[in-house]
Amino acid sequence: MSKKAFFLILLLLIISGLANAQTSEVVTSDESARCLNCHNSRQKKLVESWEKSKHARNRVGCYECHKADPGDSAAKNGHFGFSVQLPVSPLRCASCHPNQYESFASSSHALAYETIRNAEIASVAPALFESSCAICHGNELKMSNGKPARHKWPNHGIGRINTDGSRGNCVACHSHHEYELAVARSAETCGRCHRGQTGPALESWRASRHGSNWNLAKVHTDFNSTRLIPSDQPLTYPDCFVCHIAATGKNENDSTHNPGERISWKLAAFKSTHHENWGPRRLKMQSVCRSCHGNSQVDLFYRRFDASVMEINRLVARAAEGIASDSHEFEALKAAAMAAKIGAAMMSPIHIRDGFNLLREKKY
Ligand code: HEC
Ligand code: HEC
Ligand code: HEC
Ligand code: HEC
Ligand code: HEC
Ligand code: HEC
Ligand code: HEC
Ligand code: HEC
Repeated sequence: MSKKAFFLILLLLIISGLANAQTSEVVTSDESARCLNCHNSRQKKLVESWEKSKHARNRVGCYECHKADPGDSAAKNGHFGFSVQLPVSPLRCASCHPNQYESFASSSHALAYETIRNAEIASVAPALFESSCAICHGNELKMSNGKPARHKWPNHGIGRINTDGSRGNCVACHSHHEYELAVARSAETCGRCHRGQTGPALESWRASRHGSNWNLAKVHTDFNSTRLIPSDQPLTYPDCFVCHIAATGKNENDSTHNPGERISWKLAAFKSTHHENWGPRRLKMQSVCRSCHGNSQVDLFYRRFDASVMEINRLVARAAEGIASDSHEFEALKAAAMAAKIGAAMMSPIHIRDGFNLLREKKY
């Protein structure tokens, strides 16, 4: 063979190899291939974002997530030979991600609908309820023959009760079809719910040293597979997920889908009390801090934080004298206390100051 012909063949082999690598990325079951036949053109953008996901490279297609039990009220039966459903229950994800599901199911996120179930607004103004409280907390999804009942859809609330009775909703934090980790890791994602009067965690984090350089914090949302804070990375500023969800730094298997697992105080309350078993919970959070800080920084922070929470408890108790516990004033007082306490947890001078002033001057 001439040298020229040899290189030509080599070149052709390389090109065909590259082409194969590209087309062989998306692999589907026969069922999902049939969904794609039609849905490719109906939902072009949606299919494109699915194609970018790890799911598309691992035979997890439309059918694997949207297939339905024909007896479920969410099922659209006889859909070109299939039973499919629009809502995807966390139990479907659990068939492949059991650990994340169990951890999520044990969290107060999964129970968030219980918190609002009996709120007055639910019976007085049901449509308003569905477009306010339920957007964050979740609703009780009602369907018949695959069609959602009035006001009930769309809902991506974190504690949604699904038609199969399961609780919760994985896409409250994960994007529907790309499942890019950078989305779930972003403070903006948590901050869609954790902001303003419902507890200003996003604003408090932003105003603190930890969140004040968001571009650096982004380093965390970008790193690839490992969930540990990698030792070869520079010291960076932590996003919410670094403290509440990611592995603690000691053990790469102790990441959690229960963001309450490392919290010792119940801060979103009128008077804060400790969680049951609060000591071990606190130790877990402290081992996160220690992946970036020395012991004294961490111990001194917790001492000051505890003292602040107790002082705020004392101030609200005093401010509340003579206020009925079901009044608007009481709610406003609670919100001021919550802002101050979350501010203290995240070292936000702004929210401690605001909450303190409101409590002291009763200007809520
Ligand atoms: C022959 C074409 C065709 C095939 C095959 C097909 N679909 Fe559909 N699908 C449609 C059309 C058209 C609609 C919209 C009309 C309707 O709601 O029935 C739809 C609607 C849906 C909806 C409801 C979307 C909404 O916004 O209400 C889901 C979910 C769905 N399909 C999933 C699937 C899955 C999963 C598969 C494969 C198991 C599949 N489809 C196969 C054509 C198809
Ligand atoms: C990893 C699981 C997963 C896969 C794979 C998947 N979906 Fe979805 N899809 C979801 C989830 C979760 C939702 C949000 C529904 C909910 O809130 O329960 C959703 C929502 C939808 C919706 C309604 C929302 C919208 O933006 O219109 C359509 C239509 C849909 N999927 C079609 C498809 C099609 C077509 C495919 C195949 C290319 C597909 N899905 C693959 C999980 C999946
Ligand atoms: C049929 C099995 C299956 C189902 C159902 C499924 N997944 Fe996955 N998922 C996988 C596989 C396989 C991977 C790739 C794992 C890997 O590469 O390490 C994956 C990866 C992921 C990732 C990581 C993506 C990344 O970039 O690292 C997330 C997040 C995820 N899935 C969430 C979900 C959610 C939420 C649902 C339900 C709406 C779901 N999955 C349903 C099998 C599944
Ligand atoms: C869709 C809305 C929503 C999103 C997104 C969300 N949360 Fe929550 N979160 C809630 C609600 C609602 C509660 C209160 C649950 C209840 O009713 O007790 C809560 C409670 C919490 C708690 C208190 C847990 C406890 O056990 O006391 C922490 C911590 C928390 N969330 C952290 C996070 C973090 C970190 C993220 C992002 C990775 C996040 N949340 C994303 C709605 C959300
Ligand atoms: C923007 C998202 C969002 C909306 C809308 C929302 N909540 Fe919440 N709610 C939260 C979050 C986040 C928490 C947890 C706060 C924390 O732990 O710091 C929470 C906590 C609560 C709590 C427990 C804490 C407390 O104050 O006792 C109750 C009760 C509650 N919400 C009721 C409601 C009701 C009723 C509505 C509708 C009028 C509503 N929420 C609307 C996000 C929301
Ligand atoms: C409160 C927001 C939130 C909810 C709700 C949530 N996730 Fe996640 N998930 C995350 C974050 C943040 C990460 C990235 C964790 C990391 O990098 O350490 C993640 C990562 C993952 C991964 C990649 C592997 C891992 O554990 O890091 C899988 C798989 C996954 N989630 C599945 C699920 C499933 C299944 C559900 C529903 C049962 C769910 N998630 C609900 C925030 C959430
Ligand atoms: C540096 C680590 C760190 C970061 C980053 C962080 N938190 Fe926290 N968070 C804490 C600590 C520490 C507490 C209080 C722990 C305790 O009570 O022992 C807390 C408490 C909370 C609470 C109060 C839970 C309750 O009792 O109701 C919520 C909600 C919360 N964080 C959400 C978030 C959100 C959302 C973000 C991102 C915007 C975030 N956190 C960023 C460390 C962090
Ligand atoms: C991913 C690394 C990382 C983690 C995890 C982390 N921090 Fe930090 N922390 C930083 C950086 C970076 C700074 C800013 C240093 C500077 O600006 O000089 C900082 C600053 C601080 C400060 C000084 C704040 C001020 O107002 O000057 C305290 C106190 C602190 N962190 C406590 C904690 C505690 C407590 C935890 C755990 C709940 C924690 N940190 C988790 C990286 C981290």
